[in-house]
Amino acid sequence: MSPDAPLAGVKVVIDAGPTYEDIDPVRFLGNRSSGKMGFAIAEAAAAAGAAVTLIAGPVALATPTGIARRVDVRSALQMRAAVLEAVDAADIFIATAAVADWRVAGYSPRKIKKGPGGAPVLELIENPDILAEVAARDPRPFVVGFAAETDHVHEHAQAKLVRKKLDMLAANHVDERVGIGADDNELELIWPGGSETLPRAPKRELARALVARIAAHYHARTPA
Ligand code: CTP
Repeated sequence: MSPDAPLAGVKVVIDAGPTYEDIDPVRFLGNRSSGKMGFAIAEAAAAAGAAVTLIAGPVALATPTGIARRVDVRSALQMRAAVLEAVDAADIFIATAAVADWRVAGYSPRKIKKGPGGAPVLELIENPDILAEVAARDPRPFVVGFAAETDHVHEHAQAKLVRKKLDMLAANHVDERVGIGADDNELELIWPGGSETLPRAPKRELARALVARIAAHYHARTPA
């Protein structure tokens, strides 16, 4: 393994950004994910020599330097299809996307109009968990998940690592300074048997540190 290019010859799939769940042709359910962290990780992985497929939800971000393939999607179901198609050939899957937990049960192809009946009641159904689905595959890539927590970060992250059967999990402590939509971030990295804090830093710097750790753990599991 070259220290300058620890992911040379390694195929990495990364999902990033939010998903939008359409209600009608003009309305959707979304979230505040900017996609910045996922794009920074994609850039860092490419700089580390990886062949990166970046699956992006609706974001206002240019494709980072060195990305082999970018697939733009909108909804959770589209993201799932794109990930499952790409991940077959992947060595590492990094799930940074803020996938919407629910979608609207009945998309209305016509704009829902205001009327005397009052506000519509939206029925929501749960979206598939893309990360858990990839982790359940056999064979499967090295699987890295993300978690956004406001409290008890370590305990919640530890539970998520086990529940989703992940090789690594990067937990964000979300508040108004760091995390979703912000330029800085801090991460607690955990894996079966250990953990490490990557202190607060700009997302691009943190992404490089995270990719270095992912590469080390990936190679420890899969000797070159
Ligand atoms: N994820 C996914 N598909 C979903 C939901 C989440 O792939 N339908 C992935 C995300 O990309 C992320 C991780 O799962 O890597 C986040 O897990 P989740 O259980 O959604 O955690 P939180 O968003 O932190 O929410 P909660 O703590 O409420 O479970």
